[in-house]
Amino acid sequence: MRLDGKVALITGASEGIGAACAAELAACGARLSLTARSEEGLRKAGPGALITPGDLTSEDTRRAVVERTLERFGAIDILINNAGIGSYLPSWSAPLEEARRLMELNYFALLGMTQLVAPHMRARRSGVIVNVSSIGGKVTLPWSTLYSATKYAVNGLTEGMRVELWGDGVRTMLVCPGYVQTGFQKNTRFGHAPDGVVKARRFAITAAQCATAIRRGLERDARTVVTPRSGWILVALSRVFPSLVEARMAKINGTA
Ligand SMILES: NC(=O)c1ccc[n+]([C@@H]2O[C@H](COP(=O)([O-])OP(=O)(O)OC[C@H]3O[C@@H](n4cnc5c(N)ncnc54)[C@H](OP(=O)(O)O)[C@@H]3O)[C@@H](O)[C@H]2O)c1
Repeated sequence: MRLDGKVALITGASEGIGAACAAELAACGARLSLTARSEEGLRKAGPGALITPGDLTSEDTRRAVVERTLERFGAIDILINNAGIGSYLPSWSAPLEEARRLMELNYFALLGMTQLVAPHMRARRSGVIVNVSSIGGKVTLPWSTLYSATKYAVNGLTEGMRVELWGDGVRTMLVCPGYVQTGFQKNTRFGHAPDGVVKARRFAITAAQCATAIRRGLERDARTVVTPRSGWILVALSRVFPSLVEARMAKINGTA
């Protein structure tokens, strides 16, 4: 897909991967509609973009973003469902309320946005829904089990919806980043990452590199983007040697 002139609605665009996607797509000539809670962050991320600040777990916010975008641009060509939050609480003891909050943003807000946008894309027989999941949606990260579960849900949704929309001219693209240098760890309200994970930050890619991988995925009509690509090795290993990968994960998690 060519990106110049396309209308892209990006959630969680006030910082991190979402803000980097805004910069990457703007540089390709896309027209942007950005949303997240921080108005200041959105203004910085997208000078000249349409911005709609608000909490995406609220249906009112979701409706306002989509309505304003359609009013301003008349169409949405690309929806990037990127807003998300992590959790480092053990799944066996985390308050259920916290687990639900995580699901509310990472899964239900993404589904809610998709349900508002997909009918417009179907009517035009054109559009791409990009769901920013995680490598943790393909290989469970035991320091983030609850978070991984939300991303497994996103992966299943994205892959099923791809086939549901098969004949409608609407595509879905699943994005599974590995470790990306953003404020993600400090922004979580749910626990702290174990030392082994914090130390591995030096191997992380930048948000700009992640956004470039997403932009390239859009340009080549990719089904799935794993970035960095070395993440596929972990996915393959976990399928072929699951107990080996689990033992390594237990070491990093400090539960070996
Ligand atoms: N960083 C990584 O290593 C990594 C790896 C794999 C996948 N991911 C995924 O990538 C996506 C982006 O993460 P990131 O690393 O860029 O994290 P980040 O820097 O913490 O950014 C998260 C974004 O989501 C927004 N957000 C959070 N809660 C929100 C809410 N209730 N309503 C609306 N917006 C909300 C934040 O904006 P406000 O605070 O202004 O609302 C921010 O713009 C997430 O889905 C994450 O799961 C990240």
